[in-house]
Amino acid sequence: MDRLKGKVALISGGARGQGAAEGRLFAAEGAKVVLGDVLDAEAARTAEEINARTGARVALGVHLDVTRAADWRAAVESCTREFGGLDILVNNAGIADVRGVEETSEEQWDSVININQKGVWLGMKFAIPAMRKRGGGSIVNISSIYGIIGSPGSAAYHASKGAVRLLTKAAAAQYAADKIRVNSVHPGVILTPMTDTAPREQLQPVIDKAPMKRAAQPEEVGWCVVFLASDEASFVTGAELVVDGGYTAV
Ligand SMILES: NC(=O)c1ccc[n+]([C@@H]2O[C@H](COP(=O)([O-])OP(=O)(O)OC[C@H]3O[C@@H](n4cnc5c(N)ncnc54)[C@H](O)[C@@H]3O)[C@@H](O)[C@H]2O)c1
Repeated sequence: MDRLKGKVALISGGARGQGAAEGRLFAAEGAKVVLGDVLDAEAARTAEEINARTGARVALGVHLDVTRAADWRAAVESCTREFGGLDILVNNAGIADVRGVEETSEEQWDSVININQKGVWLGMKFAIPAMRKRGGGSIVNISSIYGIIGSPGSAAYHASKGAVRLLTKAAAAQYAADKIRVNSVHPGVILTPMTDTAPREQLQPVIDKAPMKRAAQPEEVGWCVVFLASDEASFVTGAELVVDGGYTAV
């Protein structure tokens, strides 16, 4: 309880899956949360559910397409207008893509890179000035185990998530002086709508290779994000936290 008391968080892709789980955990730990997503109705529903559970207006859904600068500007303004500022950004929105190098069209490549990579950069660009006004902050960028290792498919996804890993370290170096910490999280297979629709023959080998031999619930990533977002992680920046049942350890 109260690990994030007094803090305001903006979570991209907060309507469902891991982003929604993080919204629920953040609110339970005392934060105010703004859930930004292209799924407007689902984001509003998740926010209402959090408010009902908390018994107070601590969550808000806003329209946010992470590829659009104007949407980020408006989402950050919502944090300030509705809840008084911004302390935490979780760059969680992302899309999966399982195509290999030759199978990926230019349009598909641009779409994955724009959402998964450019979206993370834009989020930091617009959130950091608001965090500076608060005297610091914490940014958690959701990458993947596929941002650390390669595989035969998912070319654009690997490229985007690998970029998030190093962009995180660059931003950590740049903003340490502003007391803004920046870390990346690298989930393995997590049970969300994303994996519900993924080809089973691609997922199962990843599950089988991990020493823990199972997929995870979104909350198992969410608690790690709570830690990195909180003051408990006050000396943690530029780090990459794998949450993968040991997949990348062996
Ligand atoms: N599920 C997994 O196994 C897994 C593993 C490693 C990493 N990840 C990463 O975790 C993050 C969350 O994924 P998830 O598993 O919860 O998937 P999900 O599909 O359930 O949730 C992703 C959310 O991002 C939103 N989104 C997509 N495009 C957007 C855009 N342009 N602007 C704003 N929002 C947008 C979706 O509407 C959705 O609500 C993603 O970055 C994903 O790549 C997931």
